[in-house]
Amino acid sequence: MKIRSLLILANTISLVVILVFLSISYVKMFISPDIIILLSLITLGAGLLSFGIHLTITSPLLKSVKQMSKEAGKMASGDFDVKVTEAGPLEIKELAANFNHMSSRIEEMFGELKESEKFKSELIANVSHDLRTPLSSIHSFVSALNDDIIEDPKDRKRYFETILSETGKLSLLIEEVLEFSQLENRKLSWNPHPTPIDQLLIDTLGQFEPRIQEKEIHVKVEYDDSLPLVPLMPLHIKRVMTNFIQNALSFSPDHTSLDIRAVKKEEQVEFSVTDQGKGIPIEEQDSIFERFYRVEKSRNKAGGGSGLGLSISKEIIEIHGGSIGVESDGQSGSTFWFQLPLEKSGEERR
Ligand SMILES: Nc1ncnc2c1ncn2[C@@H]1O[C@H](COP(=O)(O)OP(=O)(O)OP(=O)(O)O)[C@@H](O)[C@H]1O
Ligand SMILES: [Mg+2]
Repeated sequence: MKIRSLLILANTISLVVILVFLSISYVKMFISPDIIILLSLITLGAGLLSFGIHLTITSPLLKSVKQMSKEAGKMASGDFDVKVTEAGPLEIKELAANFNHMSSRIEEMFGELKESEKFKSELIANVSHDLRTPLSSIHSFVSALNDDIIEDPKDRKRYFETILSETGKLSLLIEEVLEFSQLENRKLSWNPHPTPIDQLLIDTLGQFEPRIQEKEIHVKVEYDDSLPLVPLMPLHIKRVMTNFIQNALSFSPDHTSLDIRAVKKEEQVEFSVTDQGKGIPIEEQDSIFERFYRVEKSRNKAGGGSGLGLSISKEIIEIHGGSIGVESDGQSGSTFWFQLPLEKSGEERR
């Protein structure tokens, strides 16, 4: 039964009850029939008037309930962008506010779910592609070595080096995928340790020594001695530094220089890596922090990674409550930087 019909029924019953009781009273009072009819008509009129007033007063309530039911129907059919007017009596207002809150939360959660699904299918497509290239090159080099068709020791060494570098790419990719799935599943919580930035930098740079020597890159390090211990998650920040330096080395021509700075800037520590590579076109400077984004579009190109490094770095820096960015004129060289607060201010991930 509709609320309106229920209200009409309740009003009619109460009106009939009043009329019956009043009529009995009038009869018992020995009032003349004319007066009884008149009094009954007055009572009926008053009853109908109160009935009308009652319906007018309760109509916003009915309207709100109807609106909520209509919007809930839209939600049921998959449209979560719904809102109801928060008007009427207090309880209905509260109900409408809760309804609006619920619909926006559902819309948000549904968006996250869609985003995560999209990411997973992108991840599978891109990762399988990125696994195939090094795997097929490892396969062909190992087959050649296995068949003993490479006799020249120099060529054999070159083949082994290629296999080594391809396996390196594979393990980097697997590491990145694991890291990303950890970030995606919100398993990474804010758990900082006071850490000396210089030590972290030395550890990070150490990994690149052979590469730096091979490319004859001149590395300059500027370090601010007044830097205190910084509250951070060392393995993760090392991951960001590694990605900056790795990118800079990949895109730097041989014999160029690499400037690494770790300085105090207001209440923040700023870490930056400046290379003399080809730079980043201005219109792509925001996009490179998105997942899988690469300036060089062809994923078949030798070198270049899967385009996950900077997006992982961005997530890590955001967990620390810091900021990350790039400066480049789009032609010659780029500076990648991140800033971290010197005070503990990272956030627990959801
Ligand atoms: N120092 C740099 N100079 C020029 N281009 C850069 C530099 N650093 C990053 N880029 C551009 O930004 C893109 C995204 O970098 P990102 O580190 O996210 O991915 P990647 O290095 O391609 O792969 P991954 O880090 O996952 O192995 C790179 O593919 C490259 O096009
Ligand atoms: Mg990278």
